[in-house]
Amino acid sequence: MTDQSSNQMWGGRFAAGPDAIMEAINASIGFDQRMAAQDIAGSRAHAAMLAATGVISDSDAQAIREGLLTVLSEIQSGTFQFSTALEDIHMNVEARLKEIIGEPAGRLHTGRSRNDQVATDFKLWVRDQFDAAESGILALIRALLAQAEAGADWVMPGFTHLQTAQPVTWGHHMMAYVEMFGRDLSRVRDARARMNESPLGAAALAGTSFPIDRHMTAQALGFDRPAANSLDAVSDRDFALEFLSTASICAVHLSRFAEELVIWSSAQFRFVSLSDRFSTGSSIMPQKKNPDAAELIRAKVGRIYGANTALMMVMKGLPLAYSKDMQEDKEQVFDAADNWMLALAAMEGMVKDMTANRDSLAAAAGSGFSTATDLADWLVRVLGLPFRDAHHVTGSLVAMAEGKGCDLPDLTLDDMQSVHGEISDDVYSVLGVDNSVNSRQSYGGTAPDQVRAQIERWKAMV
Ligand code: ARG
Repeated sequence: MTDQSSNQMWGGRFAAGPDAIMEAINASIGFDQRMAAQDIAGSRAHAAMLAATGVISDSDAQAIREGLLTVLSEIQSGTFQFSTALEDIHMNVEARLKEIIGEPAGRLHTGRSRNDQVATDFKLWVRDQFDAAESGILALIRALLAQAEAGADWVMPGFTHLQTAQPVTWGHHMMAYVEMFGRDLSRVRDARARMNESPLGAAALAGTSFPIDRHMTAQALGFDRPAANSLDAVSDRDFALEFLSTASICAVHLSRFAEELVIWSSAQFRFVSLSDRFSTGSSIMPQKKNPDAAELIRAKVGRIYGANTALMMVMKGLPLAYSKDMQEDKEQVFDAADNWMLALAAMEGMVKDMTANRDSLAAAAGSGFSTATDLADWLVRVLGLPFRDAHHVTGSLVAMAEGKGCDLPDLTLDDMQSVHGEISDDVYSVLGVDNSVNSRQSYGGTAPDQVRAQIERWKAMV
């Protein structure tokens, strides 16, 4: 006889229960209870399949499937008593099922193992999160499109090295992020399609001698097909790694945009005003309105990429098939998923609510000799100078304007001609920022027409 305190699920060969520290390091119920709904869905599909293939009776399957719904409602209503001694969600659910329906509960675990069960549950959970991420990214893209549409022709400085480079349009800048989040969206969809194979029925590692129908359970759970190799099915965590790496890249994008919002909302820039709903005040400096949401979004990439690194390291060097190391996958993914969804929602809210200050953008657009390239291009186009010479002439004119403390359009024609005698009045037409952006008609360029074309293309897709 086994000791009363040994595990009721696997304690047959054990004379004594585990040490308290063993129980503490071994148990995952503290976190994997988040997969309760997925575990019950997987078990209900498995029970139906066992009956359909004649492995268990219809009446046992019926009792199991109904009992599992009772367990689910207990968990959802918060009355379920989770037990650390029962290690994880799988054994907690099964033990409770036994209390509710008795003997038939013991037939549920036929032709499967916790190894394929946990892989199935976790895949279902991660799949839901891919879907949530897809919705979150789509909502953010729509908010960016609305901003781009409102200010498709508003001029602002474009930067390289965070130094004024050339004027661009507000719409063009917003659409740059639409492209970035659009790639995140395609990574999410791509990874979701790749991961959608069912591990259920791979059993412990080798498959099973019971005449199970893995296609049936795969279909019932919304998978495209059963995973084709049972060893791989129970030891694959690529879907979690792809989730975390996709989340990491998206979090990097979010952090870049968040950083711009922090800079833009500062008193020095005043490019945007963030709404009160996404800002906080200072307890000591009454004038302050802090972009806390943007700062926190900027920081989230730390834990999300940290989770990616952590799971990569957990999986590195693991031999086939299942090892308990893999239980360390969940907390990382749960935390990254929660924070990714939160960051997406906060960014969407901020973008929806923020106001671009058109006048500040325009004033800044013209400063910093931002149309110097237009001047050089004019010298090439109209006077036929080689670009390198035009660059040199323009450099002299910039130095002259800098010396006089004015901008390029403020130089007189005499000033201009003192550097190059053939410069004519026509040059002023390219020194205005509106002319500058309107002239950038190359595909994907900053001209409002080009920006509007891209907005229309995206609106048809999202
Ligand atoms: N709680 C475990 C995990 O998350 C379930 C699988 C346990 N399998 C086993 N052979 N001990 O990985």
